[in-house]
Order: sequence, then structure tokens, then C-alpha cells
Amino acid sequence: MTQPTAPAPERLVHDDAGLNSGTWPVITPEHFITRVERFFTRSHAPIPAIDPAAWRLDIGGLVNRPGRFSLAELTGTFPAKSLDATLVCAGLRRAEFLSLGPLPGELPWGPEPVSTGTWAGVTLDAVLRAVGVKAGARYVEFTGLDRVEREGRHFGFGGSIDLDKAMSGEALLATHLNGAPLSPMHGFPLRAMVPGWIGARSVKWLGRIDLREAPSENYFQSKAYRSQREINPDKPLDVSQGDPLGMVPLNAVIVDPIAGATVEAGMVTIRGWAMGSANRPVVSVELSTENLDWRPARITVPGTAWTWSFWEATLPLPPGPHILAVRATDSAGTTMPAELSETWNVKGYANNAWHRVAIVAA
Ligand code: MTE
Repeated sequence: MTQPTAPAPERLVHDDAGLNSGTWPVITPEHFITRVERFFTRSHAPIPAIDPAAWRLDIGGLVNRPGRFSLAELTGTFPAKSLDATLVCAGLRRAEFLSLGPLPGELPWGPEPVSTGTWAGVTLDAVLRAVGVKAGARYVEFTGLDRVEREGRHFGFGGSIDLDKAMSGEALLATHLNGAPLSPMHGFPLRAMVPGWIGARSVKWLGRIDLREAPSENYFQSKAYRSQREINPDKPLDVSQGDPLGMVPLNAVIVDPIAGATVEAGMVTIRGWAMGSANRPVVSVELSTENLDWRPARITVPGTAWTWSFWEATLPLPPGPHILAVRATDSAGTTMPAELSETWNVKGYANNAWHRVAIVAA
């Protein structure tokens, strides 16, 4: 049996300031939780300098008692909670869409903007109960302390989640990642952690929470992170009429071998990860070569509904070129779209078509 080509360990950096980068996932049990030095990062503006002693979290909007909390008040008052969750950027696998045409202004992410952390902090629902959620509140808006510039305005990155998710006990106000205080890059001193939702809703450097009747009007909720499949002829990059992204879609990704690899013909081991959507875990992962002889993969490290699971499959590959494909099915029987064209959208978000990797067996 051949060992497929080892994945590249280097950090792939997508911008001059180094605010957007990630490493190729490693599919071994000790990498199930991603080490902080391997964690991807996605920031739309420079990291804000925050003095933790002066920092406060303000909570307002549709609440009975608007609140202002220091870090010590939050961690000393509310129940501590820790959970494992995979953070998935909505731009994961965007680069595959480039085979269908250009995506101006969008970062060409491959499989690297996904990492799994052990997040710790306080439960969001307990904090919201303390300030008292008013009738009529349906969304919880997070705003960060960074200063993003869009359309000639400077403002904090933000977005909202459904009140139900916020009150489910699943969402955290996180102070720690993998047992250490959040690093400045990952949101120190406090970030939202919304398991199962696109990374954009896990707002870093949290400064405000507002309870609202309607979804956030922040640019990153109303004008970006929306899936729009029809191009607006007057404004081709405008997606404000698209559907806001919330939960990450069911997905499965081949990590090893990498595209373009040459492997020894014979029994070849393929490895990757899969993750369910909407609180539904992945129940099966199947691999094929392009002749569509689907074979089950073995789950090597099972995850939860909020994390990836690792899988492995061994396929007989005769000499020649092959296109490997993977698809996953979740506990409701949902599976992934076969073609990129079924999931294409103007800004190239949330690609969960069958992941295909072209290799050569020799
Ligand atoms: N929060 C703020 N304040 N500013 C940002 O630019 N980027 C979001 C989210 N939270 C962002 C943010 C996006 S798009 C993602 S995918 C995740 O943070 C990335 O988190 P990480 O950098 O800790 O991996």
C-alpha cells in the first residue's frame, strides 16, 4: 500500500498584512483539535489594541436592564462552559469556483480556513437572561471593536444570530482557546463562539451585543455573507438581495493526497474530514473515482454535530489519472450537491459540492 503525499505544512497567507491565512489540515487523531499555531485566521481589518482592564462589554437593544460588564464580572458571575467546535469560514473551498469564472475581490481560499478548537468562556444564554430579553427580540447582534472600512464608512465588524440559537446554551462568550486566553489574532479578550454557524457570526474583539427585532444591518450581514445566485446586472458584485448565511452546510473534504499528487498505483489511502449541518451529525462518508463506484470511508476520529469527523478510505487505483470525489450524508439523509454549478453564488460562499481532487497513480 502506498502512503499518499504528505500535505504541505506551510501557512498559506492571502494578504500582505497576514490577517487571512491558514494551514492545511492534518488528519491524525492528535490534530483533531487544531493547535493555535496551525489555526486559520480571517480578519477584515487590523487587530484592535485592547486594554483588558479598560475593556467592557455593553449589552443593549431589546433588553430590560442594559448591561455593562468587565471581564472579571462576566467570568465571576456566569456559568463557565467549554466545548469543542469547528470554526468554518464561509469562504472555505471558494477557489474551486474559479473554474467557473472570476470572483473579483474575494480571497481564493482552498481547504485551509477551517480549524477545531476547545473554546471556553461563559454561556451566552445566561448573560442574556441576566439583562432580561424583551418580548419582540428575535435576533442577537454582535459588534466587534475593530474598525473596518466599507463604502466610505468605518465601523466594527458584526452580524446577528437567531435568538433561539443564542438561548440554546450552545453559544459561548469565549475567553479561551485550547486552554489559553484568546490571542489578539483570535479575538482577545472576548469573542462570540457560535458552533455550527459560519465563522463570520463568531465575532471577535466583542464590544457590544444588541437584542433586535430584525437581523443586524451591519455590512457583513446585510451586504456580505449572503448567498445570491443571480447576478444583479446594474451592480454585479452586490449580494444584498441574497439569503443571509447562517448554519454551515454539510461538507466533506479530501485533505490527503493533495491535487496534482502522484501516488503509487495500487491500494491508495485517502484521508479527510466531514461535518454535518443544523445539529445533524455526519453518518456516512463515501469516496469514488470519477467512474462513480462509491465506497464507504471509515470514520477514524468521530466528531460531534459541532465538530468535524476524520475519515479514511482505501481505493484500488490502477496506473493513470484519477479524479477522487467525496460526499457525506447526515443523520436526516441530506447529502451534498454533485456539481459546483449547483452551489455557485456571486461571492463564492459555502461551497459544499462533492469535493474532487485530480491525482495520478504511477
Ligand atoms: N470578528 C471581527 N470583529 N472581525 C472580523 O473580521 N472575521 C470573521 C469572524 N469574526 C471577523 C470576526 C470571520 S469571516 C471568521 S471566518 C472568523 O472570525 C475567523 O476567526 P479566527 O480568525 O479566530 O480563525
